[in-house]
Amino acid sequence: LKEQPLRCKTCLITAGPTHEAIDPVRYIGNHSTGKMGMAIAMDLANRGAEVTLIIGPTSLTGEHDLIQRIDVTSAQEMYDAVHKHISGKDYAVFSAAVADYKPAIPAGQKIKKSSDTLTLELVKNPDILASVGVMENRPFLVGFALETENEIEHAFAKAKKKNTDLLILNSMNDEGAGFGTDTNKITMIDKNGNSEKFPVKSKQLVAKDIVDEIVKRTS
Ligand code: PMT
Repeated sequence: LKEQPLRCKTCLITAGPTHEAIDPVRYIGNHSTGKMGMAIAMDLANRGAEVTLIIGPTSLTGEHDLIQRIDVTSAQEMYDAVHKHISGKDYAVFSAAVADYKPAIPAGQKIKKSSDTLTLELVKNPDILASVGVMENRPFLVGFALETENEIEHAFAKAKKKNTDLLILNSMNDEGAGFGTDTNKITMIDKNGNSEKFPVKSKQLVAKDIVDEIVKRTS
């Protein structure tokens, strides 16, 4: 079918932030809204692909017959959901802003205000993308990198460490890029360190560029 070129393809997308509980009413989080990941999921589904969207806490709606949405809260829940669904997928795109650390032991009750300072002990979360990067028979793997300095160098190091086929760099230094906005400005970096810069575009058009590149590199 001409309008459904990705019919029969299966994809897994992570999107949004994760929330790591400090106590029953507080968490560590970040500013991701899930817009970038949702736009990628929609673009893939509109081309006929079957999409599993694993998304952290967000007010975003958005439905499609071909998108199976799985809502999660923490990085550990996102990790578990990814590993439950990754097997046999053709493509995986990791656009979630996953918390690198979580409170070692979340308090069972709301922490009371008493002393002037409060120290939280944090422990590392699992790296979901890296854990898929080492899988045998893994999907074509696309990671994201959100950087604030030495962007290309840091992003390429991440691409190598996490074994991505394609890494999408967005920088907090670029206007109209990153969290929350309806636009993004990306640089694509491949395994060999080749990079291609794109101008600021709507997240829908950025998603289209990313999916076009995946299709180009896998067909
Ligand atoms: O959601 P929006 O408001 O639209 O914003 C989009 C975005 C800015 C969140 C998105 O474009 C983006 O850059 N996502 C990745 C943000 C990030 O946390 O990057 P990172 O450099 O910390 O992580 C690198 C890669 O490893 C990412 O693919 C991330 O999903 C993955 N990762 C990181 C840590 C971890 N524990 N597990 C992971 O899978």
